[in-house]
Amino acid sequence: MTLPDGVEYHVFGDSGDDEGDESEGDGTGDDGPGSLATRGEPVYGEPTDGEYRRWDPHRSKLGAMLALGMDTGLAGAETTLYLGAAAGTTVSHVADFAGPTYAVEFAARPMGDLLDATESRPNLVPLLKDARKPATYAHVVEPVDVLVQDVATRGQARVARLNSQFLREDGRLLLAIKARSEDVTRAPADVFDDALDDLRGGYEVLETERLSPYHDDHLGVVARPTADGTL
Ligand SMILES: C[S@@+](CC[C@H](N)C(=O)[O-])C[C@H]1O[C@@H](n2cnc3c(N)ncnc32)[C@H](O)[C@@H]1O
Repeated sequence: MTLPDGVEYHVFGDSGDDEGDESEGDGTGDDGPGSLATRGEPVYGEPTDGEYRRWDPHRSKLGAMLALGMDTGLAGAETTLYLGAAAGTTVSHVADFAGPTYAVEFAARPMGDLLDATESRPNLVPLLKDARKPATYAHVVEPVDVLVQDVATRGQARVARLNSQFLREDGRLLLAIKARSEDVTRAPADVFDDALDDLRGGYEVLETERLSPYHDDHLGVVARPTADGTL
């Protein structure tokens, strides 16, 4: 697994609290020692070192996917649609290494923080929209190379399928499925099986991995759109 351009392992030292990645055990990532980092203005009080800001995989599903070595296909500079942006923790890191980055969030409350993150990131476009209604932002969002999704809502696979219309043919879906958002009473493994079956209605699933120890009962998924996707 290679990290995209603009994402690297950086040693933050004492103040940066380099705890390393549990997957590696010794603070050494695939690409070197230290912690996952991008370069940009800090957003959520994360440790910094010059231009570098630590990307905390415990606070980011995409960060966890990278830290766990999933083959995201990211190279850097991709046009990106991010669903479930919240206050901008993860999407700000994405905007640090990606191209135009459209950030969809339907809750008004975190919008202020998300707007703050856009100030130093002219490529980050916040959209106060419901990811279940892509028609409401289809006039703004261009075709994208990557669809990142982290929406804590029921029907996560359906949301991904509804938004596959924005993905280029050779694009990638990077999805985090939260079992408890689908059904708190069922075993996460069963929830993931059903969600993947649903997802296959519009995507070919390339890789899956549980995001523990960073996020309990979450499944990371890498997929690509299929031409015959239906809803
Ligand atoms: C787990 S949080 C996202 C955290 C964020 N991805 C990060 O790493 O910084 C899930 C977010 O999805 C948002 N969300 C849930 N359903 C949504 C929908 N239908 N459309 C847009 N946002 C939604 C919630 O408001 C919440 O902010």
